[in-house]
Amino acid sequence: MSPISYPYSHTMRVLTGITTTGTPHLGNYVGAIRPALRSSQHSGVDAYFFLADYHALIKTDDPARIQRSTLELAATWLACGLDTERVTFYRQSDIAEIPELTWLLTCVCGKGLLNRAHAYKAALDKNAASGSDPDEGVTAGLFMYPVLMAADILLFNANQVPVGRDQVQHIEMARDIAASFNHHYGAHFTLPEAVVDAQVATLPGLDGRKMSKSYDNTIPLFAPPEQLKKLIFGIVTDSLAPGQPKQTEGSALFQIYQAFASADESAALARAYAQGIGWADAKQMLFERIELEIAPLRARYQALMAQPHEVQAQLQAGAAKARRSATPFAQRLRHAVGLRPLAGAEAGADSAPTDAAVGTAAALAGSALAPKPALPTFKQYREPDGQFAFKLTDARGHLLLQSASFASPQAAALAIARLKAAGYAASPELHPLLRLGGTSPEGSAGSADPAAAAQAAEAALEALRAAG
Ligand code: TRP
Repeated sequence: MSPISYPYSHTMRVLTGITTTGTPHLGNYVGAIRPALRSSQHSGVDAYFFLADYHALIKTDDPARIQRSTLELAATWLACGLDTERVTFYRQSDIAEIPELTWLLTCVCGKGLLNRAHAYKAALDKNAASGSDPDEGVTAGLFMYPVLMAADILLFNANQVPVGRDQVQHIEMARDIAASFNHHYGAHFTLPEAVVDAQVATLPGLDGRKMSKSYDNTIPLFAPPEQLKKLIFGIVTDSLAPGQPKQTEGSALFQIYQAFASADESAALARAYAQGIGWADAKQMLFERIELEIAPLRARYQALMAQPHEVQAQLQAGAAKARRSATPFAQRLRHAVGLRPLAGAEAGADSAPTDAAVGTAAALAGSALAPKPALPTFKQYREPDGQFAFKLTDARGHLLLQSASFASPQAAALAIARLKAAGYAASPELHPLLRLGGTSPEGSAGSADPAAAAQAAEAALEALRAAG
């Protein structure tokens, strides 16, 4: 099992969340925890792992279970070797910017998009099948689940989100929501990508089906050795006697062994199968192989479980680290949507940011999220008469170019594409359709210094081109 490889020279921000409703089992370890920790050791990776306890509220109303699961999961990841120096590891509910961003995103997210979410549709279908009211038992939380998840991801401008196949739609929705926000308010969000690692096999459970809580066929990751042994001896096998050759194909026992063993060890067990190893001996081998890997982790886990304060301190330190970028970024987003200091709103001040806001941008410049040295932005919009127009503003919101009206959004987009590709001077055919910045809003006075205004527009287009 190789870690996900990243063919990029620059750092990838990789983020994933773990819902705090259950106790981790061997399937979670092999399918999620171990590969995530391995990929976090890759030098090009800036990993963010968090405990999605707000999401847990959507799935259960048992407070004790959420608290317990949060501790268990945190202790598990730490015991399995999560390095809090490298990885930003935190609890979702310690970051107040996440629910705040959820609201900003809610306001640009089409309701129709959420109507199409698999989990919500499944709930509706179930109600339809039983003849209940369509929304019976469906909370607004379940409906909004994808928006909260988008906020988790977008707040940190994650590039890649490792998830199981069932979560891919949620990442696609996060992209859609990000694109919608960017369209309205400028290029603030990176569009995230789902990463589904095809190499990570799903582990079979005790009955041979996929190991899953819903099948009640799991082996808890940190079961005490006696219980682990008992569960392993309960794995279903066929009824071939010792001495009879056995098939590795379709053998849950063999597959679980493979997930822990080296290639050589697996080959040795395959030979033993062919030579008719008895099931009891094979199960003993599996128990010992798992115990070899898990025993040291279990000891660390138990030590951490006995020190919930220590675990909490680590999570809070992680949250503080996460907020170092999240707080200024949320401030920038608030400003972008118009939740701004009031100075500057007086008549004629337009949307130029206030000194306070510029101060924020300056503070951001040194932070990890330094929003890609604040770029100029094109903004396309609809005029009151139904026609389409765009403007180009610099990072501070000053107008550089204002277009005339176009009959269709496509025509406006084409003009933008042309300007982006060729620049201002090299697009003379567009000049009659463009007004340079520095003119009064009515366009009556003409630019104070047309040459300087053209130069400013040219430089901005160049910066955009350079940023790709
Ligand atoms: N919904 C994810 C799951 O059930 C957990 C999750 C919450 C998550 N927020 C996330 C995963 C953000 C990736 C990114 O598995």
